[in-house]
Amino acid sequence: MVAPSPSAVGVLLRGCGSATPNASISNDALGRRVETSDAWIRSRTGIGARRVIASDESIAELSALAAERALTMANWSAESLDLILLATSTPDDLFGSAPRLQARLKAFNAVAFDLTAACSGFLFGLVTAAQYLRSGAMKRILIVGADQLSRWVDWDDRRSCVLFGDAAGAVLLEASTDQRDDLEGYLLRSDGRRGEVLQLPQVEERLPLVGETSHQRGGFQPIRMNGQEVYKFAVREVPSILENLLQEAGISAHAIDWLLLHQANQRILDAVAERLEIPNDKVLSNLAHFGNTSAATIPLMLDEAVRDGRITPGHRIASSGFGAGLSWGAALLRWSGPA
Ligand code: ACO
Repeated sequence: MVAPSPSAVGVLLRGCGSATPNASISNDALGRRVETSDAWIRSRTGIGARRVIASDESIAELSALAAERALTMANWSAESLDLILLATSTPDDLFGSAPRLQARLKAFNAVAFDLTAACSGFLFGLVTAAQYLRSGAMKRILIVGADQLSRWVDWDDRRSCVLFGDAAGAVLLEASTDQRDDLEGYLLRSDGRRGEVLQLPQVEERLPLVGETSHQRGGFQPIRMNGQEVYKFAVREVPSILENLLQEAGISAHAIDWLLLHQANQRILDAVAERLEIPNDKVLSNLAHFGNTSAATIPLMLDEAVRDGRITPGHRIASSGFGAGLSWGAALLRWSGPA
């Protein structure tokens, strides 16, 4: 879907913020636990270190920190929010962490709920939030992408544990009162037939209940990933969905100021940029410092680039999220910044 109907309200990106845990684990440090090396991890992924959430921290706490920084940037009060969308696959509570985030922010006029779409979660959340603004139902929305995959990786599995880190990133969306629209187009996809290549599956433990009836114990196993298949999926689908989106929007790849992809692997970023003929200096990457922080990668990277002045008001950003599900999506965005 690209153009909203002529009567629909536009969407403005007004603020951003991010937060990462203090503890950083370098590749060398990880090499003391599993058989790996800084050279292997950097050459295959571009990752140099990852942040890991402390046992007494929570996703609601990290998200609140990111959200507060975004609210300060936009100069908005928490009470002015209508909706809080928390995109996460790793909530503190399976019933959802968004209301805990709401409570921390004291954003009591907002309704808050979680949205789960793994590494595509932030992008799916952004598009979902935009619908509430376009319809005129809401005026101000906070969308947070946050994950704590460190709690769900097998730290003895070198094929996956080197990839992931923890973080939260926040973006504030506002209904436009003029003709401007920062969401120039989007496409969303999922394909559950290919879901087994990346899973955080339930434990498999049947326990007797009553008589012949048994029940399945709740709980989850560590992440299971077929790295090569995920890699092939990403380098095939991400350029393709971005090309389709640009074509539908009638925008050339040369008109893009920044390529902001889900930060999974530097080789994936490079392959997508090469296929779209986007030069390296327009490709945003912070993989070296944070690794793959799942739903947080896009807003975390956006916040860094806005705060260091690379992204300035009016810049056009092509973004794509992709991951478990399988799920993937793309959006053409502009950064308006604070009013
Ligand atoms: N250190 C050293 N050696 C390793 C490591 C490691 N950390 N991991 C694997 N190896 C070894 C393997 O055992 C294998 O050895 P062998 O040939 O003796 O059997 C060798 O390296 C090659 O393994 P491959 O799996 O073929 O390595 P590949 O080049 O495919 O790189 C990687 C693996 C980095 C996981 C890559 O496939 C990849 O990045 N895939 C995408 C994964 C991803 O991005 N997942 C998340 C995306 S979605 C989301 O964000 C939730």
